[in-house]
Amino acid sequence: MIKEEGIRAELKKIYADKINFFNKKAYYWQNVRHATSEHYEVLKQIQLESESRVLDIGCGTGKLFPIIAGLGENIKIVGLDMCKEMLKYAEKFPYPNLETIHSFCEEMPLESNSIDVVFINDTFPHFHNWNLALREIKRVLKNKGHLYLVHSNGSQEVNQTHRNIGPPVANDLLPPLDKLVNTLENFSLKVKKACDTEQYLLICAHKGI
Ligand SMILES: C[S@@+](CC[C@H](N)C(=O)[O-])C[C@H]1O[C@@H](n2cnc3c(N)ncnc32)[C@H](O)[C@@H]1O
Repeated sequence: MIKEEGIRAELKKIYADKINFFNKKAYYWQNVRHATSEHYEVLKQIQLESESRVLDIGCGTGKLFPIIAGLGENIKIVGLDMCKEMLKYAEKFPYPNLETIHSFCEEMPLESNSIDVVFINDTFPHFHNWNLALREIKRVLKNKGHLYLVHSNGSQEVNQTHRNIGPPVANDLLPPLDKLVNTLENFSLKVKKACDTEQYLLICAHKGI
């Protein structure tokens, strides 16, 4: 218990500037930020088994929830984010099978092997330590569970946008696609599909053989 509290305290310090930044962005994100239609079209093609429990990491204001809910029957959504201001919007999504969690992805209050599908949309480069995050994602995913790492722009535009914004996200950059794939595969997350176009980035991986 003491060890877990220590990790959370450390994460709060590490993420202090980004929590402040994203909390201030919540209104803008909810009301102004729109994904490209190509990105939505690609997401809508994903088919999930009925009753899947889907974890949206860095869910922000819950913009992806309506799409996730439509990918299968009786989908259970778990939206997790480190920013309370973002979650205030996410919680309003009128969906009976929704749970929201205020937490860091590096230390999620979720049981091991309890999640069928993880989505990380427009969020992965903001993680402080990809290895810590992926270890935790692998822990909560069921065997053969899927991870969808997605961006609503291609990596070049994502990186340019973050550089233009400046601190605290200026250095939150996506590596080349092959390096990203290797990073996932180092955690035995087998990549089934990976593409990085001008309009979107999508990697689909699954846990296990
Ligand atoms: C750019 S927004 C994307 C929001 C949402 N996924 C979307 O597509 O609209 C990134 C979100 O990730 C969250 N985030 C970043 N790092 C995180 C971490 N380590 N743990 C939990 N949430 C995190 C931020 O608070 C922010 O809400």
